[in-house]
Amino acid sequence: MSLRIDVLTLFPELFGPFFATSIPKRAAQKGLVSYHLTNIRDFANDKHRSVDDAPFGGGPGMVMMCPPMFDAVEAVERQDPAVATRILLTPQGRLFDQSTAEALAKENRLLLIAGHYEGFDERIIEGLSPMELSIGDYVLSGGELAAMVVIEAVVRLLPGALGAEDGAANETFADGLLEYPQYTRPRDFRGMGVPDILLSGNHQAIADWRLQQRLTRTQNRRKDLWQAYENRRLK
Ligand code: ADE
Repeated sequence: MSLRIDVLTLFPELFGPFFATSIPKRAAQKGLVSYHLTNIRDFANDKHRSVDDAPFGGGPGMVMMCPPMFDAVEAVERQDPAVATRILLTPQGRLFDQSTAEALAKENRLLLIAGHYEGFDERIIEGLSPMELSIGDYVLSGGELAAMVVIEAVVRLLPGALGAEDGAANETFADGLLEYPQYTRPRDFRGMGVPDILLSGNHQAIADWRLQQRLTRTQNRRKDLWQAYENRRLK
């Protein structure tokens, strides 16, 4: 089965190199995913090709208007009978995390909407009922980078997207812990060595050391993840 990803954006050109590079490219070549870009402006219905307007009630900035957005979503959805999970990228959304990526990787079709300007007419959210996702507590000028973050995190989880040697199963966040420190050649670099245990050939001792590193790192760096880990462990 292949995942269809539609992106509605005012800047489709931002996505070209992203879809044509590394894992997103390889996954498409393997037939695991297909990407479909739509320019929201193609659905503007006045002679100025407007997609935004000043807010009712006044205030700064411009607001993405309903008609082109609804027309674009409906036209794109008609292109394929698979039901799309609609996703709107916005700082007002739920924080995107690994478990959301895992859930989205199981869908047949995702339709991501990247807006610009101050925000969306609230009736876009009311009428299209998208899942609203934020990639973090900061404000971007548009949802495009956020859409790419979501797509990147999802596509690499599709079965077969990663090489056998770099499976996604035991990475950071798969079990809610940070990753252990990694080393590769050379053994000595500018006077900095490698922990002896990693050169010992004792696989059990290495596994124990790595787990210990993950625990102390998580505890020291991410109190929120550590608390969640402890809560799960004590349940
Ligand atoms: N659009 C603007 N800022 C955003 C954010 N932090 N997450 C998702 N979409 C956005």
